Amino acid sequence: MTRFSTISEIASFCKENGFVFPSSEIYGGFAAVYDYGPYGVELKNNIANWWWETMVTTRRDTVGVDSGICSARRVWEASGHADNFDDPQIDCKKCKARHRADTLLESYGLELDKAPIDEINQSVAELREKGVEVKCPACGSTNLTPARQFSLMVKTNLGAPTAELSNENAVFLRAETCQGIFTNYLNVLNTSRVKIPFGIAQIGKAFRNEIVARQFVFRTREFEQMEMQYFTPEEGSRELYDQWRETRRNWFLDMGIPAERLRFHEHAKLAHYAKAASDIEYQFACLGDDFQEIEGIHMRGDWDLSRHQEFSGTKMLYQNPHGPNFLPHVVETSAGLNRAFLCVLDQAYRSEELEGGKRRNVLKLHPRLSPVKVAVFPLVKNKAPITEYAQKVFDDLSRKFAAEYDDHSNIGKRYRRQDEVGTPLCVTIDFDTLENNEVTVRDRDTMEQVRVSADSLRSFVEDKIAS
Ligand code: GAP
Repeated sequence: MTRFSTISEIASFCKENGFVFPSSEIYGGFAAVYDYGPYGVELKNNIANWWWETMVTTRRDTVGVDSGICSARRVWEASGHADNFDDPQIDCKKCKARHRADTLLESYGLELDKAPIDEINQSVAELREKGVEVKCPACGSTNLTPARQFSLMVKTNLGAPTAELSNENAVFLRAETCQGIFTNYLNVLNTSRVKIPFGIAQIGKAFRNEIVARQFVFRTREFEQMEMQYFTPEEGSRELYDQWRETRRNWFLDMGIPAERLRFHEHAKLAHYAKAASDIEYQFACLGDDFQEIEGIHMRGDWDLSRHQEFSGTKMLYQNPHGPNFLPHVVETSAGLNRAFLCVLDQAYRSEELEGGKRRNVLKLHPRLSPVKVAVFPLVKNKAPITEYAQKVFDDLSRKFAAEYDDHSNIGKRYRRQDEVGTPLCVTIDFDTLENNEVTVRDRDTMEQVRVSADSLRSFVEDKIAS
């Protein structure tokens, strides 16, 4: 049994099976942006819906919002992103490759994550004094630029083009979804029944001008986040941070990610807004079994609300009925939807050897995540009583479940195709069905087949998917 072992394997699988396509492919592609195909969009939506259900609809203490991708420039000045959201970049003057300086210098034994630019250039100078020249990993040249800060913020302009796209009139696309939560914090407090402690959640696109974005959907310039800001008094915020770490880890376990492939990474160096931060990391088979971040959990303190209070002049204090008013502190959970998608696919995929030496590729997805829950096959496509019966079964099932009708090629090939996109159940209508109203239901994981009465098929499928 084998798994994906490289990122290009999972990328090819996704393209061949309609999960993810390179963006603008007919024009030669568009770097670091991907489009989701018919099965991919279903899987991604199922993950997002599960998150929403866990984080919003089944909790009494959280509500959702959906804020704009573009917002007033002051939002990003207040949040610190306009000035601080940079990565250090070194360019190769020979081959023009761009590198993240801290990542490039890791292979020279230097730990420079979030180090100031002067420290990075000083470290390069010290290496040179020791006779070590930093080389471009792409072409080996030592003809490199000094490190300089590169803003990750993506700019655009909105409205009538009255002036050139200058820095003054440009707007930023949001680099994280949570700022739209902070700017709506008062609106939510004034219009919903939440009381502290409470959370506001949002799912949506975010944009970052990543210097290097080479790992398929793992790191892209346009991506989706699922974020929740939990507003609390400062007292007790540490305990809530610990609780949310566990809650979020459990969410990945519930989706079928095994405990041994998950771990926490506590940050020693912190982003400008954080008082404590840890990542949930998943061990990606497709990244050579490396542990990589899929979600961040952050104690943001009162950084954001105090900055928005200062920059907007609007009081953000919580009107405390039991004591003095206060500025809430925030525990944030910030998951990448595309990374959760990659993690779920990476975990679910197996290439298995079958009896007789044949192989099948199968996505052992949690049934709730499967893009198609049940596929309906007429045994043959040229016998009206069979195809009409199958159509009726499909009509009935598709009212309740994501279903697919397939009458192409032989049944074995149809099973293989559904295995490959993770469909838990396949239903075949054959000649016997016309006599006894029983259909064959085949299970993706065990490959076992049972006969089920057509009348009880809907509840049979429901039970299987729920279990
Ligand atoms: N609001 C806090 C925040 O945005 P982050 O650690 O920068 O924190 C949170 O991002 C999550 O968003 C990451 O754990 C990752 O899953 C996802 N993410 C960040 N940058 C990404 C990118 N360029 N491509 C895909 N996902 C990304």
